[in-house]
Amino acid sequence: MKTRLLTLALLLTVPSALAQGTLAAFFGGQITESGGYRAEFAVRDGAVKVWIRDRNDQPVAATGKATLLLGGQKLEVPLAPKANGLVAEIPVKSSDKVAAVLGLTVDGKPLSLRFQQTELITPANLPVQAEAGRKVFEAVCASCHGTGLRGTDNGPPLLHPFYALGSAHGDDVILDAINKGAKAHMWRFGDMPKPEGLKPGQDKEALAYIRAVQAANGLGSVPASADPHAGHKH
Ligand code: HEC
Repeated sequence: MKTRLLTLALLLTVPSALAQGTLAAFFGGQITESGGYRAEFAVRDGAVKVWIRDRNDQPVAATGKATLLLGGQKLEVPLAPKANGLVAEIPVKSSDKVAAVLGLTVDGKPLSLRFQQTELITPANLPVQAEAGRKVFEAVCASCHGTGLRGTDNGPPLLHPFYALGSAHGDDVILDAINKGAKAHMWRFGDMPKPEGLKPGQDKEALAYIRAVQAANGLGSVPASADPHAGHKH
């Protein structure tokens, strides 16, 4: 239920933010605007990452620390500057439930931010096609999109309203990406190269797996009217 509520919140907030043409997550994280800055937050395997940008999306230097609630433990860690952002390397997984309070200093001013993500739900007893797709996904896609579809430093989360059933990234677009790759157009990861070594039918298997993980995590069908990229050309 909590997952559903959060997803609903995502569905309601992401499209409206994008509709104003303002907030774009560059690296597949959660994004918010505060104190005149744009902050993006992502949980990766082994690290939490934060990027601060100004209203023109230019990176802004920041320092600070993160207080994390992780597996019932409170953890306070410094955020170290790294590649246009801030990083705390900690034993965390992108599938974990995480609550974070960031205490930052940006341009000499304090900036306090909160983010959270729910625990990833791994669907049990997948139908045959989706179970085959899980193996394809782990072998061919997970290095960029993450085993739990929450993204990595190499590719975006597919567990995202952008890619939900009924969004502008429908089944046809997903199959197209699997068979041909995709030009960078939503994020700042660069292009997706054409995946190598797929056998006929494995595209549909991977798609079935993606849909099953999305559904298990409350990311069902998006009404066309709520789609941030309705009319978005592929
Ligand atoms: C080398 C890294 C990499 C691999 C491997 C990879 N992807 Fe991607 N993928 C990306 C990147 C980067 C993007 C984002 C492109 C953009 O900016 O929209 C992407 C985008 C996508 C999209 C959205 C396409 C669109 O038109 O918007 C889908 C769906 C997708 N990937 C599925 C997969 C699946 C399924 C696999 C495995 C068969 C896979 N990817 C393998 C990096 C990768």
